[in-house]
Amino acid sequence: MKRKVTKAIFPVAGLGTRFLPATKSVPKEIMTLVDRPLIQYAIDEARAAGIEDFIFVTSRGKTALEDYFDLAPDLESALAASGKTELLDILRTTNMDSGAIAYIRQHKPLGLGHAVSCASKLIGNEPFAVILPDDVIAADKPCLQQMVEAYEDTGGAMVAAMEVAPEKTSSYGILDVKADDKSVFSINGMVEKPAQGKAPSNLAVIGRYILTPHVMANFAHITKGAGGEVQLTDAIAAEISQDRNVFGFRFEGQRFDCGSKAGFLQATVAFAMARDDLRDDLYAYLSDMMAVDKAAQ
Ligand code: G1P
Repeated sequence: MKRKVTKAIFPVAGLGTRFLPATKSVPKEIMTLVDRPLIQYAIDEARAAGIEDFIFVTSRGKTALEDYFDLAPDLESALAASGKTELLDILRTTNMDSGAIAYIRQHKPLGLGHAVSCASKLIGNEPFAVILPDDVIAADKPCLQQMVEAYEDTGGAMVAAMEVAPEKTSSYGILDVKADDKSVFSINGMVEKPAQGKAPSNLAVIGRYILTPHVMANFAHITKGAGGEVQLTDAIAAEISQDRNVFGFRFEGQRFDCGSKAGFLQATVAFAMARDDLRDDLYAYLSDMMAVDKAAQ
């Protein structure tokens, strides 16, 4: 019987240099889409998929992230005393059970694969999920939940995938597939950040993975890959060369690349427009702005 996926790794050690100067003192994952930090979206998605153990791979300068998930008794009692029950309820959605979160430090920035491998002792001999909080996915059914349900049929390793523009393939892990007409499809190979013109397809890996303990074991023998870093893509690709199943999963939903400023802004607008308390004002503002812009052209 396949084991349930109850553990997830959140690699959050990156410096977030694309968002400097903000990330000089604020971890990128604490930056907010409307009023919730990026990491909260990732945690909510993991919870919806049945994840019970949350493993954060952090680095120096990320204590704000740990504080965010701590209880805030003073704030809670102040809100309770002033009868602000709605705010109190919102605050409580961020509470995590004691012992549910583990923080591990990646001491050197050696790559995403290395970050994931830092959690290997906590994963033990179980399947696990990896969520990259930069990839925010708006979906009726959260992406990881879609994957966990598909994994119940397939087992093996599974990566979320979507088509990207051919000129963008060098920014992603790219899949080599035989036929990808179904939502779940077999992968023949995968390559991290292929050079322009060398991509086997334009199907890119998006930051949601369900992986097996074998993948973790592969880190013992893979060497540095693209960009001189230890790549998660290479550890998953090693499964294929050992004749173990790796599947791609076309998820339903809209993905925002919140690792880029344009993607972050798009996500901010999309999430704000989905909110009853913000939609009308924002819509009026954007319409006015576009009308002025058009008139000026
Ligand atoms: C990482 C992975 C890459 C994947 C991408 C998705 O790259 O290494 O395979 O396609 O996330 O966002 P990064 O964006 O960290 O360079």
